[in-house]
Amino acid sequence: MKTIGVLTSGGDAPGMNAAIRAVVRSGLERGMKVMGIKRGYAGLINGEIFEIERLHVADIIQRGGTVLKTSRSPEFMTEDGLNKAVNILKAFSIDGLVTIGGDGTFNGAKTLADRGIPVVGIPGTIDNDLAYTDYTIGFDTAVNTVLDAINKIRDTAASHERVSVVEVMGRHCGNIALHAGIAGGAEYILVPEMGYTMDDVIRTVLEGKQRGKLHNLIVIAEGAGGTHELVRVLEEVTGIETRASILGYIQRGGSPTSQDRIFASRMGYHAVELLHTGKHSRLIGIKHNKIIDVDIDEALSMELKFDEKLYEMADILTY
Ligand code: F6P
Repeated sequence: MKTIGVLTSGGDAPGMNAAIRAVVRSGLERGMKVMGIKRGYAGLINGEIFEIERLHVADIIQRGGTVLKTSRSPEFMTEDGLNKAVNILKAFSIDGLVTIGGDGTFNGAKTLADRGIPVVGIPGTIDNDLAYTDYTIGFDTAVNTVLDAINKIRDTAASHERVSVVEVMGRHCGNIALHAGIAGGAEYILVPEMGYTMDDVIRTVLEGKQRGKLHNLIVIAEGAGGTHELVRVLEEVTGIETRASILGYIQRGGSPTSQDRIFASRMGYHAVELLHTGKHSRLIGIKHNKIIDVDIDEALSMELKFDEKLYEMADILTY
């Protein structure tokens, strides 16, 4: 394989740059030409492609975001957009493609694979919501960002003896809320997978108050919904001042943790090894701390199972 391309797509995640750096340096080491594709599949369709030199990826391992930029590209999901993408890859003599992103990115990669383009996927999304892998790049950094925010909010909640409701990202997946809630010692963790009732939360807060708990911390995933209503009802029914903190996009940025940098580097290296040895239509992941690669169709057909055991443990420990 002489020339490979690399792109980032979908929601950005801290550690994507470490993966890009590993793909570029591993590819150059293998005597390949590495082409950077800007702005994900939209940039691919528009031919926003340049040859990446070793120097382009110097001093980026510590940076959040993606130096290749990213996008969500509805056009790519059209027949015309897909044809344009395949033709552009051929025009730039790109023999293989590394795509870094989440499930949307990989569904796009699959359409290219079905057109005979050798593709390999690296999981980059803060949600950690891909069934085939234990871990996605960006998750550890996002959890630590939330934890830092929780620690700060806990200080002011204690000073004012308030209930704090902290909303985190995770449109359909509660993994950030679950892990940050456990690490942050939240009294309650609300996730889309398990649902919740106002009465349950109110009862927990009131029981805590009766036990002399001076403040409460509730972590809610955005996908669980109803943050502002929950705040309003909690304050009204319990009589305890209640405040919301919507963490939002700080969770998508920040310098990646060592775990994200190391996993990303290992995955980027492995992606080039796969393409170099002629293996493609594979998604790279981590299983029991080992790098794995799974057939893309098989990986995308797996159903994400929420860790109910961990949630049950959290429920006990947070009470
Ligand atoms: O998929 C990662 C994610 O950050 C979700 O947790 C969040 O709901 C979504 O992306 C936000 O998407 P956008 O950046 O398009 O607003």
